[in-house]
Amino acid sequence: MELTVQIGTKKLPNPTGVASGTFGYGSEYEELVDLSSLGAIYSKAVTPEARPGNDIPRIIETPAGLLNSIGLANVGLERFISEKLPLFRRFPCPVVVNVAGKNDEDYCRVVEELDEFDEVWGYEINLSCPNVKEGCLAFGSNPAYVEGLTRKLRGLSPKPMIIKLTPNVTDIASIAKAAEAGGADAVSCINTLVGMVIDIHKKKPVLPAGTGGLSGPAIKPVGVAAVYRVKRAVGIPVIGIGGIQNAEDAIEYLLAGASAVQIGTATFVDPAAPVKVLAGIKAYMKEEGLESLKDFHRYIP
Ligand SMILES: Cc1cc2nc3c(=O)[nH]c(=O)nc-3n(C[C@H](O)[C@H](O)[C@H](O)COP(=O)(O)O)c2cc1C
Repeated sequence: MELTVQIGTKKLPNPTGVASGTFGYGSEYEELVDLSSLGAIYSKAVTPEARPGNDIPRIIETPAGLLNSIGLANVGLERFISEKLPLFRRFPCPVVVNVAGKNDEDYCRVVEELDEFDEVWGYEINLSCPNVKEGCLAFGSNPAYVEGLTRKLRGLSPKPMIIKLTPNVTDIASIAKAAEAGGADAVSCINTLVGMVIDIHKKKPVLPAGTGGLSGPAIKPVGVAAVYRVKRAVGIPVIGIGGIQNAEDAIEYLLAGASAVQIGTATFVDPAAPVKVLAGIKAYMKEEGLESLKDFHRYIP
């Protein structure tokens, strides 16, 4: 059974990774999860400067998921290099660094400074951040912009470059095509969907930031449809994310066209969910006589 996933010039050992922002820097989970069974850890977003993040509450529960507004809280590039990279050295799985910023220069600086470190397997570029220059629309909503930024980042590193797509756009496939044209090795989708919860007694939004990003089971059909559409628009691998709780959910993504998956919110309920998902994918492949992950793509045109 072939479980590796080719992304650019490198291979992930298996298709089941943990989603950015939901697994810290990995070390927090070392005692709870067998990290050697993970296809990859996608790190919390890294920005050039340290960010304290938004006021609390930053995460609230919704009927079928979570609404978060963390505000990209992170230790910043300098402390990431001195404190977090050394931890990755002992990890038995690839670490993909999730990169965020408020302008092109921020994204480029993170990739440029991290590229010499072997501990960094590759990059996942978070395009859901607001682009202040372009009127606070997310970076990921303008195809020409995505192509240009991807091209710049591509020029800075030969390592796997994964562009993470926001679902908060009219046509996600056109954004994926732009990433491919700019030289991306893969795209991952989806990031969270914009949502709001209002406290009817206080008569104001529960999150101090007003809106937040919806994740968890509620968004799974949106994610599956995004993967389905994106896969049919590009030739590069698609990594499916959104509401995966168990192996059946992950298999839906693989059948829709994903080459790999990430699990986020589900790890808050069960940190070992990714390990169980991988076991379930293997059992399904055995039962169905599938020899490689590509075989999942034979069924749905
Ligand atoms: C608390 C929290 C923090 C997140 N932080 C990031 C982040 O820093 N960068 C990023 O690209 N996505 C971030 N995400 C989005 C997830 O990586 C993922 O795309 C999304 O939650 C959908 O997957 P899920 O339904 O399995 O959680 C975050 C999600 C949550 C719930």
